[in-house]
Amino acid sequence: MGAGIPLAKGAIVPDDVSRHGMWSSRWLFVLAATGSAVGLGNIWKFPYITGENGGGAFVVVYLLCIAAIGIPIMMAEVMLGRSGRQSPINTMRSLIRESGGHRSWSVIGWMGVLAGVLILSFYAVIAGWAVFYVFRLASGVFEGVDGSQSSALFGEFLSNPWAVLLWQTLFMVATIVIVARGVARGLEVAVRWLMPILLLLLVGLVGYAAVYGDFGQGFAFLFSFDASRLTWDGTLTAMGHAFFTLSLGMGAIMAYGAYMPSQASISTTVVTIGVLDTVVALAAGLAIFPIVFVEGLVPGAGPGLMFETLPVAFGNLPFGAVLGTIFFLLVSFAAITSAISLTEPALAFLVEEYNAKRWRVAISLGAVCWLLGIGTVLSFNVWADAKLFGLTFFDLVDYVSGKIMLPLGGLLIALFAGWVLNRRIADEQLGFEGLRREVWDLVIRFVAPLGVLVVFGYTIYQSFG
Ligand code: TRP
Repeated sequence: MGAGIPLAKGAIVPDDVSRHGMWSSRWLFVLAATGSAVGLGNIWKFPYITGENGGGAFVVVYLLCIAAIGIPIMMAEVMLGRSGRQSPINTMRSLIRESGGHRSWSVIGWMGVLAGVLILSFYAVIAGWAVFYVFRLASGVFEGVDGSQSSALFGEFLSNPWAVLLWQTLFMVATIVIVARGVARGLEVAVRWLMPILLLLLVGLVGYAAVYGDFGQGFAFLFSFDASRLTWDGTLTAMGHAFFTLSLGMGAIMAYGAYMPSQASISTTVVTIGVLDTVVALAAGLAIFPIVFVEGLVPGAGPGLMFETLPVAFGNLPFGAVLGTIFFLLVSFAAITSAISLTEPALAFLVEEYNAKRWRVAISLGAVCWLLGIGTVLSFNVWADAKLFGLTFFDLVDYVSGKIMLPLGGLLIALFAGWVLNRRIADEQLGFEGLRREVWDLVIRFVAPLGVLVVFGYTIYQSFG
């Protein structure tokens, strides 16, 4: 690219800057990537799968997966993105050229774009539920309700496709407005405000759970290790979730990495993001389980934990309506800073490919995700019985993107970074020498890919075997 990329204003951008813009500091990259990582995965999914898989033992496996598979693959994504400085598809194309790899490695970029669209289509629907629950908690309808009344309220909402559609649409519009404004005026502004608020709200909620909940029991549930509760199934769920929660496998972090300043250390930055994401997930557990237990509710309620079980707790505790409103506000903020990252690979690619205006691309992409999302909206009512392989439209999209495309993407990213990528590029980006360099090679070539292969192999075996 020697000469750099001419911008509309006639300025010339040097090679270490992306045409889409740059994070204004290393810290903004940390906020943005943490914003991507921290989402429904941490607050909605992590507590309920921990509940379903028996607590402490599951948490230990999950932490191992984050450390041994998640962190290395995240480092690989950031490294690839930062050396390419373009959308994941074009970044892969130029790295393949520089490394002498086979053209077909660019499937990493293509599959990522598709996975992003699929995930966002249902992510916006569930995030829409959370936004609705901000208002629902504030209205006080949960005052004094019991479990069956709360389930009925949730069921009544889901059974009305127009209501679900309304909130999905609202969430989608908000997402598109942010991404259309670009990296500096959209993404950065959103994470700069929302992430600190989110962390504050979370601390407040954990404090509340400590005062009004059964904190001891909640804590013990999350952290007491009981090896007998370890299952093979739980292990696989933990590994799959490590991908989802760190936003890995589809190029979102690669796209964000393309806007990261060159001087910042990839390893320290990625470890910070991984730790923050984990802390938020555990804190969400510490905010939720103590109040679930103090009300005598069960932790293993599944996906309904947040929308059915939790409102019962809030409905019966002091200041519950206020705290419940704050809780769902927190979930909504976390969801939107994740949703914006799901669009970035496709968005950046379309801007590059057609030299199109970012806002035009954002609107078109948003429209596609919104339309696809209608399938998910209907999966909970009108199409609830329309099943393929026993799965609803939503289950199918969730399964194909989360259990197939993300692990496959992650596996290919690790293999490309470990075996194909030009050595010089990796050394330059990571700055590893001696023992650290050898450990890195071992992890990215063997540990991470084999870990993913185990999950992936088992998933395929379970589905088709
Ligand atoms: N990590 C987010 C969560 O935990 C979801 C998410 C955002 C995501 N971007 C992603 C998942 C990219 C996979 C790939 O809710």
